[in-house]
Amino acid sequence: MYRSHNCGELNASNINTEVTLAGWVQKSRDKGFMNWVDLRDRYGITQLIFDESRTDKTVFELAKTLGREFVIQVKGTVIEREAKNKNIPTGEIEILVSELTILNSALTPPFTIEDETDGGEDIRMKYRYLDIRRNPVKNSLLFRHKVAMEVRKYLSDLDFCEVETPYLIKSTPEGARDFVVPSRMNEGQFYALPQSPQTFKQLLMVGGMDKYFQIVKCFRDEDLRADRQPEFTQIDCEMAFVEQEDILNIFEGLTRHLLKEIKGIEVDKFPRITYDYAMKTYGNDKPDIRFGMKFGELNEFAQHKEFPVFNAAELVVGIAVPGAGNYTRKEIDGLIDWVKRPQVGASGMVYVKCNEDGTYKSSVDKFYDNDDLAKWAKATEANPGDMIFVLSGPANKTRAQLSALRMELATRLGLRNPEEFAPLWVVDFPLLELDEESGRYHAMHHPFTSPKPEDMALLETEPGKVRANAYDMVLNGNEIGGGSIRIHDKATQQLMFKYLGFTEEEAKAQFGFLMDAFQFGAPPHGGLAFGLDRLVAILGGQETIRDFIAFPKNNSGRDVMIDAPAAIDDAQLKELRIKVDIA
Ligand code: AMO
Repeated sequence: MYRSHNCGELNASNINTEVTLAGWVQKSRDKGFMNWVDLRDRYGITQLIFDESRTDKTVFELAKTLGREFVIQVKGTVIEREAKNKNIPTGEIEILVSELTILNSALTPPFTIEDETDGGEDIRMKYRYLDIRRNPVKNSLLFRHKVAMEVRKYLSDLDFCEVETPYLIKSTPEGARDFVVPSRMNEGQFYALPQSPQTFKQLLMVGGMDKYFQIVKCFRDEDLRADRQPEFTQIDCEMAFVEQEDILNIFEGLTRHLLKEIKGIEVDKFPRITYDYAMKTYGNDKPDIRFGMKFGELNEFAQHKEFPVFNAAELVVGIAVPGAGNYTRKEIDGLIDWVKRPQVGASGMVYVKCNEDGTYKSSVDKFYDNDDLAKWAKATEANPGDMIFVLSGPANKTRAQLSALRMELATRLGLRNPEEFAPLWVVDFPLLELDEESGRYHAMHHPFTSPKPEDMALLETEPGKVRANAYDMVLNGNEIGGGSIRIHDKATQQLMFKYLGFTEEEAKAQFGFLMDAFQFGAPPHGGLAFGLDRLVAILGGQETIRDFIAFPKNNSGRDVMIDAPAAIDDAQLKELRIKVDIA
């Protein structure tokens, strides 16, 4: 038996008990005649004491050779500590050691294994297994486990069945590039790793598994960001015989369950807003609604005056920043520079100070009087003491710029409290999105999403206006899940592929299996997928998903610990009949 107890569970009630513990040496304090060692495992830290007058001489001497991160086993008696540490659960006791076995020695770790470490990001990624010994990383993994357990529990209780779908498949279009795997047995042919199990879960519905879920790895070859990894995990779900309303209710229930069980927070019914409203009001389809600063459109009040910049703009739009009326000229200039950075791309910004006495002072006083500015204040819901910032230009671009400013200001004003949770649904997404480069429409969610029946007629005439039965769940400014009601008949699916620019042959070659299945009694169905990594990170009060993944990739998509991706040897390439040609 390696251990009778773990390093986090002994306390005053165990005094005089003989115990065996095993773990890692966190640190030792050698005072000559007395040597204290902190022994650490996943559960906590227990103090060991080696005392010249009470400990066997060989054990006492051996303890002096222990280095940081040595793996040891000790036997001893639980005794009361003289200097108690109220901060840890084991702080009232220590172990008077009688036997010590060194199970393994350790090199000096390249960074300190403590909550506040001296190790930089790169070195910690290279030695991720050491980083996992630190509380912040370890606790993130335990937290993830807890969330996954609650998800399984909630869905299983509702009769959802977890089914595994294959990883070696054919491309599923979710909008990113595929990772491909060459097939040795099928010369010149490749599998694609799933960007999601989308087509398989639909086939499970045809198979009659009417409530499916899977906590599943997905693979997408796309540019990385704080909330994106090339391999990530979805809570993937699908149901048959449901309408959008059923899906929204069940998965709102799941999220509410998680907020309650994990965070102890009760939330009311989630607000639902349309995609159009989200874009007009927040400039963004994943709005953070923990704070206001809603957009006020000002065309009506700002155009047809003498200010040529606004007159020429498609959209003039502003936000009222609470309590910012006293910003100095320097602070305002700093913000103007901020919106002019290439990442944001505004050409300039107008500001209006809302004075406490109900008057206004703006950077465009030459063109607008107090009455004009009062209308701006009304449209942006500004109060005395606020500052209104106004941007103008092409509608979509300007909305995106103002949205970036809104988020930045909220961060600066401390309005993005990670312990506050504001979930919502965004519904009625457009079915199609125009790709400006190719001039072609592509599916905004994916090609299996059903158009709203009442918009079908628009497909021929104004495809950009067709709305889909598609929805996203948004939490604190992050898209944590998305899904749709699916097409379940061959004719509509064929039509959809046609609108997406597939020839009949291409559609058949890529998705013939799905359209065939639709001919064998496909039930109406729909579903959604949550990004588990994102969900866990946000519930954990953070937005970087890497911290909640045991072995994540870095920003170049590399695993620096195992050094992947890597070249493969010639024999393997030959066997796969692959020629590598790097110019
Ligand atoms: P979608 O592509 O919207 O939908 O993905 C669902 C959710 O997965 C998360 N996500 C990611 N998380 C981390 N890294 C990534 N690279 C990444 N990409 C996506 C997001 C997102 O909301 N098959 C459909 C779902 C459906 O229609 O049922 C799908 O995959 O949180």
